[in-house]
Amino acid sequence: MDIVVLAAGKGTRMKSPHPKALVPLLGVPMLHIVLKRVLELFESSSRGRITVVVGHRKEEIVSSLENYKTLTGQHVETCVQENALGTADALKSYFQSINGSEKATHTMVLCCDTPLLETKDLRSMYELSNKEDLDAVVASFNIQEPKGYGRVLNFSKGLKIIEEKEASSEQKQITEVNSGLYIFKTELIEKFLDEVNNQNNSGEFYLTDVFQEGRKVKSLNFGETNNFLGVNDLVQLESVEKEHVLRNIRRAQHEGVRFLDSSNTYISENTVIGESSVVYPNVVMEGNNHLGVGVTVGPSSHLKNCKVGAESEILTGSVLEDCQVSRSCSIGPYARLRPNAIIGEGSKIGNFVEIKKSTLHRGVKVSHLSYVGDAEIGDDTNIGCGFITCNYDGAQKHKTTIGKGCFIGSDSQTVAPVNIGDECFVASGSTINQNMPSGSFAISRGKQVTKNGAAARFIKKK
Ligand code: UD1
Ligand code: CA
Repeated sequence: MDIVVLAAGKGTRMKSPHPKALVPLLGVPMLHIVLKRVLELFESSSRGRITVVVGHRKEEIVSSLENYKTLTGQHVETCVQENALGTADALKSYFQSINGSEKATHTMVLCCDTPLLETKDLRSMYELSNKEDLDAVVASFNIQEPKGYGRVLNFSKGLKIIEEKEASSEQKQITEVNSGLYIFKTELIEKFLDEVNNQNNSGEFYLTDVFQEGRKVKSLNFGETNNFLGVNDLVQLESVEKEHVLRNIRRAQHEGVRFLDSSNTYISENTVIGESSVVYPNVVMEGNNHLGVGVTVGPSSHLKNCKVGAESEILTGSVLEDCQVSRSCSIGPYARLRPNAIIGEGSKIGNFVEIKKSTLHRGVKVSHLSYVGDAEIGDDTNIGCGFITCNYDGAQKHKTTIGKGCFIGSDSQTVAPVNIGDECFVASGSTINQNMPSGSFAISRGKQVTKNGAAARFIKKK
């Protein structure tokens, strides 16, 4: 079976800055989620070609699919629908694009805007279409408010799908609707598509018109389910995203992760959390995250594309993006790890500390109120409170290196580029702008002058 995902539509109702296929559910584009389900189906059945039909803002979708390949190693084809003339035209563009190449006997078609699809549903469709040798099968479901969906009218032989814009007020009462998921016999669908016209209220070529009374076509009804809810506007997006997030949390719970309040916690499709981890309320984990076993994520923390090693704790209110934390670390409360922060095993990043593009090796401590950018810090170095890497000269960023086993006193700055060797000692309140060889001590601050009894001259009373 070959698979075609329709993603060329304009998605006008979304009023979104993204093309609809790339609207992210917690950082993961809807299209990637749909493709994941398709690939899961192919794990258990023989693999065919997977093609995404693109059109509106196609460059962005193609580039996102390249990204998808880098992330998953999975390649999918694309083909172009020149103008968004309707779903039948989209499928026609696909067949034109593969004209002359080998085709599977069956073609499954799905939409990029139904990300709650489950692989088992795709499998049931595949089984029915094979068992009954159908020319076409459509997945239908029941919904209390069917507005917007194509209504399914079953006959003793065949069926019809009536689009919202064509439906009479009586037909609008029908609650069995088209999910947008189909399997067709390849040789027949090409013929059926040629017969579809655009003589209807929206002037579009409806793929649903290939279903007709008398044809060897059937619907597979999945009853009342959320699995086929479509995302056409921001109201539908909110409810689909909520359901999606809840499913991600349920999956993690079955894998041994404890959530204190699943209704106020948000984790993405591509977040994997190890057993015995605990996630507190108001946590958001977007994009691709991998957390080891026994990790704690404290309340109101936000993680995006992060790796966190086993037994580490991320304390209240910390924000981590595109970074790596090794095992047994403690981060926060209120820490910020920016892109390319790499934190070595057993390190501690305390409150109000910001780390950017820096590698901290094992057992490094930056416990309070510091900024570390464009730096490398060796094993077991202790950085005091209020330390700053002055990494920017107004035009360029420069690097700071600090060796192993150093002690950097509180309220110190390093003016990059600068190197501090191993086992150095920087006295509190120093500004270091010259390299320090290993084992050296540096102090750079004004000498203290103490005058007995002189305070009274300075203390002012109201
Ligand atoms: C479609 C179905 C409707 C069904 C619903 C399920 C048709 C005519 N209607 O309606 O019966 O109940 O899905 O969610 O098929 N697309 C293209 N090219 C186009 C137009 C659309 O590739 O020219 C793609 C879109 O990107 C989208 C999919 O086709 O992924 C469906 O289009 P959409 O406009 O969302 O159709 P619906 O109105 O939801
Ligand atoms: Ca839709």
